[in-house]
Amino acid sequence: MTKKIVVIEGDDASPEAMQPTVEVISSLGLDIAWQYPVVGEDAIEKFGTPLPQETKDMIDASDSTLFGSTSGKTGAALGYLRWGRLTYANCRPTKYLPGYQSPLADPTGIDFVIVRENLEDLYLGIEGDVEGLANLGLRSRTARMPLAEYDGRYAIKVITEEGSTRIVRKAFELARARAAKGLSAKVTCTAKYNMLSYTDGLFRDCALKVAAENPDIEFETFIVDDFAHRLCARPQDFDVIVMPNLYGDILSDAAAGLVGGLGLAASGCYGDDYAYFESAHGTAPDIAGQNIINPTATLISAAMMLEYLDFNDASERLLQGIETMYADRLSLTPDQGGKASTTDFCRTLTDLISN
Ligand code: IPM
Ligand code: MG
Repeated sequence: MTKKIVVIEGDDASPEAMQPTVEVISSLGLDIAWQYPVVGEDAIEKFGTPLPQETKDMIDASDSTLFGSTSGKTGAALGYLRWGRLTYANCRPTKYLPGYQSPLADPTGIDFVIVRENLEDLYLGIEGDVEGLANLGLRSRTARMPLAEYDGRYAIKVITEEGSTRIVRKAFELARARAAKGLSAKVTCTAKYNMLSYTDGLFRDCALKVAAENPDIEFETFIVDDFAHRLCARPQDFDVIVMPNLYGDILSDAAAGLVGGLGLAASGCYGDDYAYFESAHGTAPDIAGQNIINPTATLISAAMMLEYLDFNDASERLLQGIETMYADRLSLTPDQGGKASTTDFCRTLTDLISN
């Protein structure tokens, strides 16, 4: 059956990575129908809203979405793909491939995945003025000054048992899949459960419970500041790392820095009945229009999508091709010390994998 894939190219330099990625995948001869909905500025012009109903319908009727990065213009689509489709598990792999321009003396063997809770935490986007809380009788556990005297703003962090449990379950599922491939498969949980003992403490408690249901899989927890240090000092120690939303956002960018930068940072967001795939990097406005954005993050995200759609051979072929590109340093983009353009990279890759 034909798989319907919605493509949202994203903002700034992002379409320059997305368009040749779609061409690379098209060269694999899979039964895919690409669909391009109207989003962002075009949608505002045509429909008066950045995310018209027909775009949501197209996403709902599709098998998956390949999403470019957003600087805000296509942000409404991102919101729908996450909260509208309940894609609660954001999986962000960091794997060092020989040839990546890592800043580390020895990045060999780095191969872990950050499993970021994708819908809760501070991402509910509930913010306001502190004076609006004055009558709630809230008391600070730390500060002497009464809340009513703060002339400031607040943001709400929500952690639920259901949301935490299902993301940790996803982490254990991934650990099992790694073990089945013969890879090391420890689960590490991290959050700020000393200071935020009620919210992040709940996250950790849920993780401990799920870990107890999976006694055959090694499990550990670290407070997030300690963990950040460990991640930089000994990234090879980790396999599957599960954490609340905001820490996952920050630490996944840091993780990309360990192996060679954001141009290599792939990502997939999975729910129970839908998944979409996006590079974890931003829109790189500084290099927009230059045809030099590194398409690797978008390509690896696309490979994750192909695996999700059961195009396993094609996914493997694409990943193998990317490995060869870096191992042999073929047509690499400037961020990886090469001189090639984005389209050169993708053309070389197409030649490699369609033979
Ligand atoms: C990411 C991005 C998004 C996030 C932004 C664009 C809202 O940084 O996917 O990591 O914070 O989740
Ligand atoms: Mg981010």
